[in-house]
Amino acid sequence: MREVDTAAAYLREHLPFAPELALVLGSGLGGLAERIENAVTIPYREVPGFPLSTAPGHAGQFVAGMLGGKRVLCMQGRFHYYEGHDMRAIALPVRVFKALGCRALILTNAAGGVNWDFNVGDFMLITDHINFMGVNPLRGENDERIGPRFCDMTQVYTPQLQQLAQDVAAKQGLLLQKGVYLGYMGPSFETPAEIRAFRTLGADAVGMSTVPEAIAASHCGLPVLGLSLITNMAAGMAGKRLSGEEVIEIADRRGPVFQTFVLGIVEAM
Ligand code: HPA
Repeated sequence: MREVDTAAAYLREHLPFAPELALVLGSGLGGLAERIENAVTIPYREVPGFPLSTAPGHAGQFVAGMLGGKRVLCMQGRFHYYEGHDMRAIALPVRVFKALGCRALILTNAAGGVNWDFNVGDFMLITDHINFMGVNPLRGENDERIGPRFCDMTQVYTPQLQQLAQDVAAKQGLLLQKGVYLGYMGPSFETPAEIRAFRTLGADAVGMSTVPEAIAASHCGLPVLGLSLITNMAAGMAGKRLSGEEVIEIADRRGPVFQTFVLGIVEAM
């Protein structure tokens, strides 16, 4: 059996239901899993073909249950390329979501603000991305049952879901920035020169995840909503050094509001 089928079969057996929505909870959003009713947790290490997640602040498990009246399957913690995982491992959960019948995927992340109009703590709706990771999860043999060899990327971030997120933000009285997310391999942060270059290229935020997952979702025809929490202004913009601790501190501080926002979106989906 293909690895996606093996993993999906395992989850089908261990989940209480067929999930309708999938969420990847990045830094600051892990706490949303605690709001899931009748939660069932499945550590990634128990799922055939899944690697271990090692990033700080990432729990490394699936949490399934009811959220906002929907049957959701959440990744509490994700796989990053900088951890040493290969791209296929990063695409695998997305393909599993599709195989399980999910009708949409919400990708969330912590990101550095590149746009001068942004502030630390802002939320950003991802309208498009720039793949600056130098790698692509679709490289290698293509499985036509999953998607086409040459995958269209014209509308990776589903317009209807973008509109829905904007409506929910307005209803909750939240400022929702919009912009282009640039995926950087990491794990080092960017240099100030790189950030200036990325701004010239059209980036509004920069982070080390999301892009490969969004490409995999596009490939298999899974609608995507992408949301960033701006945890810091990118390198060289705030006149101070960057640290992973600062990212986690802001993510934790803004986490509860971000969670309420995402919960509102799930309810409306
Ligand atoms: N750069 C890259 N990734 C990030 C950042 C950043 O400034 N902040 C949070 N994730």
